[in-house]
Amino acid sequence: MSGDDPYGLNLQMKPIRKAIIPAAGLGTRFLPATKSIPKEMLPIIDRPSILFNVEEAVRAGIEDIIIIAGRGKESIENFFDRSYELEDFLSKAGKTDLLERIKHVRNLANIISIRQKEALGLGHAVLTGRPVVGDEPFAVLLGDEIMIGKPGVTDTLSKSFAKTGLSSVAIMNVPKEDVVKYGIVAVEEDSDSDSFKILDVIEKPSVEKAPSTWALPGRYVFSASIFKELSRLSPGKNGEIQLTDAMVKLAKTEGLLGITFKDLRYDTGDKFGYVQANVELALSHPELGAKMRAYIKDLAGRL
Ligand code: UTP
Repeated sequence: MSGDDPYGLNLQMKPIRKAIIPAAGLGTRFLPATKSIPKEMLPIIDRPSILFNVEEAVRAGIEDIIIIAGRGKESIENFFDRSYELEDFLSKAGKTDLLERIKHVRNLANIISIRQKEALGLGHAVLTGRPVVGDEPFAVLLGDEIMIGKPGVTDTLSKSFAKTGLSSVAIMNVPKEDVVKYGIVAVEEDSDSDSFKILDVIEKPSVEKAPSTWALPGRYVFSASIFKELSRLSPGKNGEIQLTDAMVKLAKTEGLLGITFKDLRYDTGDKFGYVQANVELALSHPELGAKMRAYIKDLAGRL
């Protein structure tokens, strides 16, 4: 029993309080829009996609959110900051509903922004958050994937970490031809469970080389050891510091779990996924739902 841990508790089991949202990629799939707007600020109906990520983290009990930003970082910072002028205007105009929605955004969490000076890869983006995270376990939510579920995938991963003390990442089954788009994991098969021991991780393998169809959709909870592994890496696939390379090391040293989930997921960094998210969320939107349903029925009849 260590002096720091008088009750024999595993200190690694403290709840996850910090999350990193990497949002410094170049967003080439969304050019020209992303020339001057970060793709995470593109709206899903009337909410920037990054707001979905921040709310998911907050539902998992996370208080400090570290946004790894590149160009256009000000628009993300400003979005989560107080806008005196706007709040004053809405208040004087008696638009209390809108005012409450604006206040909700700025009160969600402590938003800390760090600039990744060069887009050297997702692993490098995560490592950029190290000075703020320190030696605590933490979550990572990719800014271009949104997950819809309550409380959400990050909460599930956080609970898995609290229960097992092991880094836990979301995994999902994808069609064989799609393995080339994801990090793919090899798992110890256990068909009765929704939690798998990860044996290996391969970044965007060819269909022939993929060890399975279990893909990483962009939600992770890591012990701080991932920073040590990331700091030792040289550039991997496409000359980038790959998060998946550090995960291989973590799987072999401390152990790593793959956790399945049932939440809806949209790849909003991809044009089709982005349109899909807008259409599907409009269908369940309180103002737009009925109108959208009627429109889609009419449209289907005309196709
Ligand atoms: P992607 O490869 O999907 O993002 O990275 P990208 O490069 O912005 O997109 P495309 O392919 O050119 O359209 C996954 C996540 O990692 C972040 C991205 O912002 C995205 O959320 N990322 C990637 C960084 O923060 N820094 C990097 O150096 C690379």
